[in-house]
Amino acid sequence: MNIPFVDLAEQQRRIRADLDRRIAKVLDHGGYILGPEVTELEGALAAIAGCRHAITVSSGTDALLMLLMAKGIGPGDGVFLPSFTFTATAEVVLQCGASPIFVEVDAQTFNMDPECLADAIAETERQGQLRAAAVMPVDLFGQPADYQAINKLAGAHGLFVLGDAAQSFGASYQNRAVGSVAEATATSFYPAKPLGCYGDGGAIFTDDDELAATCISLRAHGQGEGRYDIVRLGLNARMDTLQAAVLLSKLTIFEDEIQRRREVAEHYNKCLTGLVETPVQLPGTASIWAQYTIKLPHRDKIAAHLREQGIPTQIYYPLPMHLQPAYAPYGNGVGSLPVSEQLCHEVLALPMHPYLDEGTIERIRDALAEGLRMGQSR
Ligand SMILES: Cc1ncc(COP(=O)(O)O)c(C=O)c1O
Repeated sequence: MNIPFVDLAEQQRRIRADLDRRIAKVLDHGGYILGPEVTELEGALAAIAGCRHAITVSSGTDALLMLLMAKGIGPGDGVFLPSFTFTATAEVVLQCGASPIFVEVDAQTFNMDPECLADAIAETERQGQLRAAAVMPVDLFGQPADYQAINKLAGAHGLFVLGDAAQSFGASYQNRAVGSVAEATATSFYPAKPLGCYGDGGAIFTDDDELAATCISLRAHGQGEGRYDIVRLGLNARMDTLQAAVLLSKLTIFEDEIQRRREVAEHYNKCLTGLVETPVQLPGTASIWAQYTIKLPHRDKIAAHLREQGIPTQIYYPLPMHLQPAYAPYGNGVGSLPVSEQLCHEVLALPMHPYLDEGTIERIRDALAEGLRMGQSR
């Protein structure tokens, strides 16, 4: 039997009646743009994130872009980000006309290494060509980055901290919810995310009233007081009311799903420790386990063996950002960020969702063990 990598069908079965009711309500009132569900959702998201403002937007990418735009990041500005991330983190920096500065990650947590960030800031300041303007820690695979160390460095060097929490909404760092650990945070509600809608969606979180007001203006073409009063260059980046209704429905089971994800990760850890390199959690972080990513040699052969057994896997990510053809001019080439480069050869994400049962995890373990044995005897 084929195992799903993410099981959205099982989730939908759980909430279908509530979902139908909420969608029908939107069809009845007809407020498809910025309808009452959007306001209700923003209140619920701000409460989960423990921050003053939650602003829903059209995608996680737009959330990141709007925060950089709102801060006036542009040509001449250097923005620090990990090289081992999804392309959107780098893309938005270039969209603003700023320059990405790729930083090495920690081999254990996969997140930005604060010591490497300190070195990159020092080097940028020494060269004097770019203003060290912002840092974008990424909470890869659902585990918050090392915000304490990063916020401290940012404070000392006057950097804007924009957390890329596309994969980590619902996680926490030192008992504070993601959304309240950085000056501003962006998340994604792409369908496969731990909290996902049925299309594209995202949100911005901040305690800064002025920044929030600017983002609300940016998502509606840069509107001022009136609808046809355009005070800045903006975007059309609102979340649809129908997506907000879907997310409100999914929020009714979100806490339970977080708990189940943590139990799945724990069972994976129990089954796989000693067999392969399992993911490492920093003390004080509570991951949302967007992905369960292991590291192993001969990764591609083992992934092929798992596929033959009906077990899907994914490679997040096969190439670091500093080696992507579109971004390579901003990096220092092969060998410059060896940890990020090595991870791209070794990581493998296993099926991960709240509905994965222990028997299935054990089946995955057995197939992995067999794949490893076959690899050794070749
Ligand atoms: C780390 C990271 N940043 C940004 C994004 C962009 O989010 P979206 O797909 O909603 O635009 C993603 C989405 O996969 C992501 O994983």
